[in-house]
Amino acid sequence: MELNIKKIKEQALKEIEEIKNSQDWEDIRNKYFSRKSGELSKLLKDVKEVSSDLKPKLGALANEIKSDITNALDKKKSEISQDDPKVEKDFIDVTLEVEKYKLGHLHPVTQVQTELEEIFKSLGFVILDGPEIESDYYNFETLNIPDWHPARDMQDTFFIEAKDKLVLRTHTSPVQVRAMQKYGAPLRCVVPGRVFRNEATDASHDHTFYQLEGLMIGENISITNLVAVMKELLSGIFKREVTVRLRPGYFPFVEPGFELDIKCLICAGKGCSVCKQTGWLELLPCGMVHPNVLKYSGIDSKKYNGFAFGLGLTRLVMMKYGIDDIRLLQSGDMRFLNQF
Ligand code: DAH
Repeated sequence: MELNIKKIKEQALKEIEEIKNSQDWEDIRNKYFSRKSGELSKLLKDVKEVSSDLKPKLGALANEIKSDITNALDKKKSEISQDDPKVEKDFIDVTLEVEKYKLGHLHPVTQVQTELEEIFKSLGFVILDGPEIESDYYNFETLNIPDWHPARDMQDTFFIEAKDKLVLRTHTSPVQVRAMQKYGAPLRCVVPGRVFRNEATDASHDHTFYQLEGLMIGENISITNLVAVMKELLSGIFKREVTVRLRPGYFPFVEPGFELDIKCLICAGKGCSVCKQTGWLELLPCGMVHPNVLKYSGIDSKKYNGFAFGLGLTRLVMMKYGIDDIRLLQSGDMRFLNQF
């Protein structure tokens, strides 16, 4: 058997020496190392069967030959790969940098909108939608702003010439009424969406921008609930605890109505250029839903009440990223958009 082992070695080395290309190399490797029929594999199996006094010697010899043949095969491989045209053709330099696919991404307003939706979903709010072309009735009337009301002047409106007094909605608030009519009470919803105003545009005014309306209707809802939800929302957005304050604010569809301010996050309330030295930033209008709005919505205002708020989504995005011209957001300018 010893002789047999040595013969295999000699023969293998000779055959390896004669290898010319990668196909030969594969064949020879299989001839000796193929698991089932390889000569060396068979030999190693045979060694296992010999009597125990012969085993150490023959085992060592067989292993030595195995490594000699492996080394010779490795050496031959590097020799042939240098001048084998097939290997050259198939050669892939895995260290080369691959050109990356250029993927687009969501608009910054959409990114913040999605983030807000996640926060509200976790608080049990549903996300709703409403029409951008809205009737005068929903945009104003049902929100306690009758035809003669001076509050109409606060929202420069695009009117659409049509029989049924249509407007481009000036705010997302009409969806409050639509939602209550459709789902009744209790109800928790937010409505992100695009709104339009007939503005002379400048760095802080555009004719098209985004809001996120919020509404919570239930029994015994209080201003404390409003403040709690607002704090949860704001710490979710700004990723830290925020201090808020309410100031009186007038909106016909809430009573009482407030302007909610947050303590300036830049100077922690000490006063800086961002908060115009006041220590506070005006963030969102809100209030307790007016009973007339509940009436228009078909909700019993003796049983139910609630709060509403109108977050300026576009404004929030500008604050978050320090964008100083609102018009950039709708410009479609890739130099601007690629920064997000
Ligand atoms: N809709 C108002 C606007 O665009 C903002 C607003 C104020 C919404 C108070 C509300 C609210 O829900 O309670 O000017």
